[in-house]
Amino acid sequence: MIRVAVLASGTGSNAMKLLHHAKNLTQLCIPLVIVDQKSSLLLETVKNEFPEVSVQLIEVPQHKSNADRKTIHENEMLAILKEHKIDWCFLAGYMRLIGPTLLHAFHDGKKHKIVNIHPSLLPKFPGLHAYEQAYEANEKVSGITIHFVDKGLDTGPIIAQETFERRSQDSLEDFILRGKQLEWKLYPKILSQLNEKGDL
Ligand code: GRF
Repeated sequence: MIRVAVLASGTGSNAMKLLHHAKNLTQLCIPLVIVDQKSSLLLETVKNEFPEVSVQLIEVPQHKSNADRKTIHENEMLAILKEHKIDWCFLAGYMRLIGPTLLHAFHDGKKHKIVNIHPSLLPKFPGLHAYEQAYEANEKVSGITIHFVDKGLDTGPIIAQETFERRSQDSLEDFILRGKQLEWKLYPKILSQLNEKGDL
């Protein structure tokens, strides 16, 4: 079995879609969800809906310098990822750049076995608030990108992209919902690909 961990910070709608989808896969499972924010809804929802999945809160230590913080935080995550024998990490609204500790641990010689979903057609609109950026820029066609993670901000090699059209009457909320609905389909599809091919 391929063992996938989901890393998240916020609402976790993508994380929940991945967990539901993984239930029907034969070669892949999600035994672990790591969140870095104690406000994340996932701490409750995963416990309630997937009691067999370990959901762990690993917060960033507050008392160190920035660089130390990331190293300590990632070492703590790495210990748990190893304990659960995790092969791949799927980021689902994980709001931190992945640092050298995890990048090194999940490198297979060609790529990092860490995947992210980003709500724009990268390389357009990297970083925070990508839906808002695309909407403000009046993009008539926007989309979703799934990509391997590297050390940059949303710069890793692209695995898949899908587009959606902005309708003339779309409010920002409509636009985001159109995109989210695409995210909820595309991310599970990539999980299926990993399940079928054993790699991405
Ligand atoms: C999604 O829009 C995802 O593309 C981005 O962060 C957001 C997370 O949303 N990386 P959710 O927590 O999965 O609802």
